[in-house]
Amino acid sequence: MTALLYGGDYNPEQWPREVWAEDMELMRRAGVNTVTIGVFSWALLEPREGEYDAGWLDDVVATLDDAGIGFFLATPTASPPPWFTRAHPDAMPVRPDGTRLTHGSRDTYAISAPAYRAAARRVARFLAERYGRHPRLRGWHVHNEYGTVDHGPHAEAAFQRWLHDRYGTLDALNDAWTTAFWSQRYDDWADITPPRVTQYLPNPAHVVAFRRFCSDEMLAAFTEQKEQIRAAGSTAPVTTNFMLPTWNHLDQWVWRDELDLVSVDHYLDTPGPDGEAHVAYGADLTRSWAGGPWLLMEQSASGIREGSRLAFKEPDRMIRSSLGYVARGSQGALFFQWRASAGGAETWHSGMVPHAGPDSRQFDGVVALGELLDRIAEVVEPPAEGPVVEADVAVLWDAHGWWSLETPHLPHDGLDYATEVRATHRALWRAGVAVDFVAPGGDLSRHRVLFVPSQLAMDDATVEWLTRYVADGGHLVVSRFTGVADEHERVVTGGYPGRLRDLLGIRVDELRPLADDERLRLSDGSVVDQWTERVHLTGADPLATYADGDLAGLPAITRRASGSGTATYLSTRLVQHSLDRFVADLLAAHDVRPVLPGGLGTGMEAVRRRAAGGTYLFLLHHGDRPLRVTGPGVDLVTGTSTAAGIVVPPGGVAVVREDGPGAEWAVTAS
Ligand code: GAL
Repeated sequence: MTALLYGGDYNPEQWPREVWAEDMELMRRAGVNTVTIGVFSWALLEPREGEYDAGWLDDVVATLDDAGIGFFLATPTASPPPWFTRAHPDAMPVRPDGTRLTHGSRDTYAISAPAYRAAARRVARFLAERYGRHPRLRGWHVHNEYGTVDHGPHAEAAFQRWLHDRYGTLDALNDAWTTAFWSQRYDDWADITPPRVTQYLPNPAHVVAFRRFCSDEMLAAFTEQKEQIRAAGSTAPVTTNFMLPTWNHLDQWVWRDELDLVSVDHYLDTPGPDGEAHVAYGADLTRSWAGGPWLLMEQSASGIREGSRLAFKEPDRMIRSSLGYVARGSQGALFFQWRASAGGAETWHSGMVPHAGPDSRQFDGVVALGELLDRIAEVVEPPAEGPVVEADVAVLWDAHGWWSLETPHLPHDGLDYATEVRATHRALWRAGVAVDFVAPGGDLSRHRVLFVPSQLAMDDATVEWLTRYVADGGHLVVSRFTGVADEHERVVTGGYPGRLRDLLGIRVDELRPLADDERLRLSDGSVVDQWTERVHLTGADPLATYADGDLAGLPAITRRASGSGTATYLSTRLVQHSLDRFVADLLAAHDVRPVLPGGLGTGMEAVRRRAAGGTYLFLLHHGDRPLRVTGPGVDLVTGTSTAAGIVVPPGGVAVVREDGPGAEWAVTAS
């Protein structure tokens, strides 16, 4: 690849042919080199069961070919056509309350229904045979955002088979699920249903097992399509677009092994300045899932619905966000969608070409981004060795951790996995350091500090992995409600957190969540909320004690040294500004340095991307005063040397090719 990919979902089937010609002209102006076609086009492609009509898609492909534009070809299986519902009503998904959904929207399929799976395989095969060797095919975009959960009879049968494979015997399942409680003991696999609406609380182990089953089942559906593509002789890379950040139905660490390219859709749900931290979080997470270069498959060009209204995105923010992803290894910046639809369910979702047309501030921004990506294209070549971004710090990410905290009736309803992980990542982002996410058991050889945010359930292997990390000199920071249960959500008794008592050198005999409006102080001045624990020291030292409340004088933050490594425990929730300070002090203590001195304090975000041609410093200015950045290199955006300093205006960006490794940079007011 010699260019960063730029473009988005292209749905010309919504428009008359004369618009297609204008599209090609506008794509040329904007520097678009890649589109994704066919994402939801099943009804057009296969108007009646088994009868394909791809004439229109041939024309789309030919139009793109003439314009020199590459394409990802989607399989349309996220949106079965109306005839499919009529022919296979049993293949519609069922909600936990028994409601069977029907077409009229999208994503309406029962993932385990044999008729659905067969139809999906057929249409994938048809597309692969017809277009699988096209020279402009950049890759396969299988399905779209896997995530429809079905609780119906097909899921039930598949879940039972999956449970049988996983647990082997009903005795093992009954034991793991603690079915002795509330007379849930199963005597026949056929009695186990997906978790459906029931009188009172469901069994958490049952709930989490079903989440894992769903991830595996969707993965099986994905790999079946991939097999069809390969069987048809297409060797193009195969991906499916993961989704961030509001729900998580997939275990990405398992999925990534099946993907030739990890790609992601990231629609910011965070208004205001914190959205920039959110971009960094999404990009760091996806890069880590990928283990190298990856692709931002979708983002919004401007407005999307947030809460009760359309939230507008300024063009300069759209550019900064796009570079935030590219800085962290994305192979380009793609959008949903090229042209804002004039009708249909997402009429008010922005496009690269807005309803107003090309004569608009927004399209000017799209053209400006295209020019910019062209100027920095050399960053796309991956480094000969080593990661795209070098990080000394890691955060544990685990889908099981997310699913555990979505089980009902935990000690506090405010526990939310993504919120916990994001708070930690935000503090690291504000400190200006690069961050990796790691899987349980992942490679920590380059990470001096590892954070484990609220990971309720933990298996033996993970405990051993963490213990080895500390023994080898790593610095581990564990947040509350971590390692309390085994992998079947069963509390390890004898004092919390049963899995990690020895490693942390503490024993907790009481969990004491706080009232909603309650805040306490710690002896080091930190402010905490939501949660406290009565901690006894069994080898750790207190770093801070509770200064007020029922636990005044008792340890709140502890640290156990083990050789040259340490294991720190936060028994409470530090509010964000206290967490920021705690993290910044910890990083300084372990000599983890920000990319730019002062971190994000100035408003200037800095990310270093490694590439074949050297290192590239991405500077994204989120602040409101011009800043001068000085260091050895050349700003590819303006073509100027940075040795004597360049001024980056508020909202502006620079991408500097650095003169050699280890360059020192300074940021000053301009
Ligand atoms: C994505 C989806 C797109 C579009 C977009 C709107 O999740 O893949 O098709 O619906 O959301 O934000």
